[in-house]
Amino acid sequence: MAGPRFVQLHHEDSAALREELARGLLDRPASVAPKFLYDALGSRLFEAITELPEYYPTRTERAILDRHAREVAAITGRGRTLVDLGAGNCEKAARLFDAFAPLRYVALDISVEYLRQALTNLQHRHPGIEMVGVGADFSTALVLPPDAGRGERLLFYPGSSIGNFTPADALRFLRQARAAGGPGGALLIGVDLVKDKATLELAYDDPLKVTAAFNLNLLRRLDALLGCDARVDDFDHVALFNEAESRIEMHLQARRPVRLRWPGGERALAAGERIHTENSYKYTPDAFDRLLREAGFARRVHWSDERGWFAVFLAW
Ligand code: AVI
Repeated sequence: MAGPRFVQLHHEDSAALREELARGLLDRPASVAPKFLYDALGSRLFEAITELPEYYPTRTERAILDRHAREVAAITGRGRTLVDLGAGNCEKAARLFDAFAPLRYVALDISVEYLRQALTNLQHRHPGIEMVGVGADFSTALVLPPDAGRGERLLFYPGSSIGNFTPADALRFLRQARAAGGPGGALLIGVDLVKDKATLELAYDDPLKVTAAFNLNLLRRLDALLGCDARVDDFDHVALFNEAESRIEMHLQARRPVRLRWPGGERALAAGERIHTENSYKYTPDAFDRLLREAGFARRVHWSDERGWFAVFLAW
């Protein structure tokens, strides 16, 4: 049995990252892009979030996929190349292997290092599936390696990560996903749905404060990447549902007047002033269907849970 292959397409440019962070901090209102939430600790904290009773998306999506995977496979056919755009620990895609019997599994993550262990273990359990781990940053452009699968591709983008793009960027991403799927390609994508404000806000501000730690961890990253003297104690985690924009917003709110300093710059924040750190858009099934159609997917079907909290769309 040959082991998995690994390709790192994305290389971090620390000067560009510093510039991006400084630009965001100097903005009005100040902001930090959500990709900075995911260092090694941030990724672990996010995994912990997915275990919280209040954070319903992960387990609701899992239940929908467990219930309908065979129906989905009956439409797409088996034996495709499964391209996983939200791989992480590869667990979500692995649950699809029985129903979809992929010939090849291509897992993408920002860092190939995050994939190494998971993919190696998975290869032992499924020696008949060819596996490739790709380190790629598709937050700006979705580019697959040239050999990402002969045969028809099924792109898998779970977890409602599409919600972390603005609708305009989501449309751009979906167009790229359609192109990356190639002839006969299909997209299987998880989408968090609009629901009551209290349920949404509790999912992003849990009583155990794991999401608060996930958000506040950004301040440690500002220190590590930018040399910025931000103190965790000076900020509160804030999560609110902005109904007009249909999105959860995460912010870091200054508890007192704070002056952030880094080599080459500084930013003063008044007490109560915020750094915007993440948006998580919530869609209605109709609104997401329209977005997929606009992106060029002629056919769409979706499955949901009894409460209508989450949807999994298949588009081709
Ligand atoms: C990764 N992404 C889909 C999560 C979300 O729900 O928007 C990130 C997250 N932020 C706070 N909790 C979870």
